Amino acid sequence: MSAKDWLNKAQMEGFAIPAFNVGNLETFKAVAVKAGEKRSPIIIESSPGETKHMGAENIVDIAKNFSEEFNIPILVNLDHATSYEECKIGIGAGYEMIHFDGSGFSIEENIKITNKLVEEAHAKGLLVEAEIDHIAGSSEVHKEDISIYEIKRGFTNPQVASTFVADTGVDIFASFFGNVHGVFPNQPPLDFELLEKIRDEIPCFLSLHGGSGISDEQIKEAIKIGRIVKININTELRAAFRDNFERVLAENKEEYALYKIFPPVLEAVGKVVGDKIETFGSSGKADSI
Ligand code: G3H
Ligand code: ZN
Repeated sequence: MSAKDWLNKAQMEGFAIPAFNVGNLETFKAVAVKAGEKRSPIIIESSPGETKHMGAENIVDIAKNFSEEFNIPILVNLDHATSYEECKIGIGAGYEMIHFDGSGFSIEENIKITNKLVEEAHAKGLLVEAEIDHIAGSSEVHKEDISIYEIKRGFTNPQVASTFVADTGVDIFASFFGNVHGVFPNQPPLDFELLEKIRDEIPCFLSLHGGSGISDEQIKEAIKIGRIVKININTELRAAFRDNFERVLAENKEEYALYKIFPPVLEAVGKVVGDKIETFGSSGKADSI
């Protein structure tokens, strides 16, 4: 099944495919092992920084290997590429999905680059995700509060988004309605009324970025409203990895063979992965084709 087939299936059956960021092999393995146990299709994604660290070709090859080893579909997505040149790295390496985050450009320039990308990506059978409203925050555990008043000013305007989607023909639109990157002490609530308006105005698939820190109930409600078929998770994986890595290192000061240190770390990352898969409703879907 192609990436598009999987997104269609998710929409028809009311679940979302988890898109997990991976910045190292251990996180990648933890995600794949747990997705295999849960029999869930997954999207593996890498930001430009994560891609540079891992190597785009390596990510594609490892995804293929894990997909065979654990017998699950693994789609590969380039996450938040901010230029046409960065997108080309994913296209060249064989990624199936490309997220061009043109929110730093004027809408006219964003449309111009997205159009060029859509033409090239569609000719190769790849999906394009676009962004016009900068999704606030960053994939970290924040100690400071985020200004809900401020972020609201940047939320998706359904009419503007609808025109953008019509002008570009993108497959997935990265919507912004309270979802922020990272985890905050005052995690903002999702604006479901706005999500309904976005859903009614836009015909393409929707993604929910900043999936970390949002309650299971809110995630389930967002999926129920319809059209959100891809939910991105990064910070919670990073936090589980780092917190447990530090803990296990402190508990095993004499151990130098890191492969002996990693199992409890991978287990902790896997726990996050399993919980998200259950919340998103994608458990068992790998076998239901
Ligand atoms: O593109 C990546 C995500 O939107 C991750 O967001 O770090 O809040 O999970 P998160
Ligand atoms: Zn994001």
